[in-house]
Amino acid sequence: MEIRRLTEDDREALVAVRLPAFGTSTLGGDRVEHPAYERWGSFVEGRLAATATRKPYASWFRGHEVPTCGVGGVAVAPELRGRGLLRPLMERLHEDARAQGDVIATLFASAPGIYASLGYRTVGAMDTIEVEASTLHRFERRHDLRRADEADLPTLRRIYAEWGRRHDGPLTRTSVEFDDGAWLHDATGVTLALDEDGRAVAYAAWNRSPGFGKDAHVEVEDLVWTDDAARDSLLWMFGTFSSVTATVRFDTSGTELTDVLPEHRVRDHRPYDLLVLQPEAFEAPAGPVLVRDYF
Ligand SMILES: CC(C)(COP(=O)(O)OP(=O)(O)OC[C@H]1O[C@@H](n2cnc3c(N)ncnc32)[C@H](O)[C@@H]1OP(=O)(O)O)[C@@H](O)C(=O)NCCC(=O)NCCS
Repeated sequence: MEIRRLTEDDREALVAVRLPAFGTSTLGGDRVEHPAYERWGSFVEGRLAATATRKPYASWFRGHEVPTCGVGGVAVAPELRGRGLLRPLMERLHEDARAQGDVIATLFASAPGIYASLGYRTVGAMDTIEVEASTLHRFERRHDLRRADEADLPTLRRIYAEWGRRHDGPLTRTSVEFDDGAWLHDATGVTLALDEDGRAVAYAAWNRSPGFGKDAHVEVEDLVWTDDAARDSLLWMFGTFSSVTATVRFDTSGTELTDVLPEHRVRDHRPYDLLVLQPEAFEAPAGPVLVRDYF
């Protein structure tokens, strides 16, 4: 069995292995070779049989940036599953990541058990929760709010970093994947909450679904705050959608938002697994691990 990095020449074979796994022929990033990721494949009798992607991230732990191998796009061709193809591929990917300085590897496991024998442990989760928009009327707006634009990108990065370094687990969002476009253009809007000195202390990136009424919703993909009252001002704003969208959804992690919104329903729960690649360089945190980015 050959295991190697994939190139543009492998595109057709890669799409054929990924399509049955993920239901799409897009590559989740338009190219096979890209600075934001490394795609790996194992070949059985010369044909691509299994693939996985390494994303060169870093994560905040105890206020330090920990080089992180983000693993995604794991798929085995349906006809070849159950034959132990995953282990050698993952071990090779880990070996390469370690050689490049990664201290931990993390992933979102589609089913418990797939990665346990490789040493991964579930340390957290990313959830999508939902509340009735009208329940947000109880929050007060104590901050001025305004829409962010291109000039605010350093501000968004500052707020995110201030939040991130206070927690264990969040990606630092300093890799090429998080270039400027990823912060503003994937959302209907990004809203800033400003303190009395006009300094932004929280932001929310959100998308409005089409339509009105019970099936319509606002999805808040990125709510980051350094001040609880500023978070509440943003929650107040999402309550104002109640006349047109029945619900508001939030991507969140740990209990930082569920504690504030105890009436929430969990729509989606994505366990986050971690493997220590360099035990001498990493001590597992005692507290909860938070993650904001699904990959
Ligand atoms: C998940 C997938 C990659 C596993 O491939 P595979 O060929 O069955 O993998 P292996 O035979 O090497 O088995 C690896 C381990 O995963 C476990 N496993 C495989 N499928 C599993 C499932 N659906 N649920 C729980 N465990 C599973 C095996 O029992 C094995 O555990 P072990 O190491 O303790 O013996 C493959 O089924 C697939 O491509 N699925 C669709 C896409 C997907 O879910 N990708 C994972 C994204 S996180």
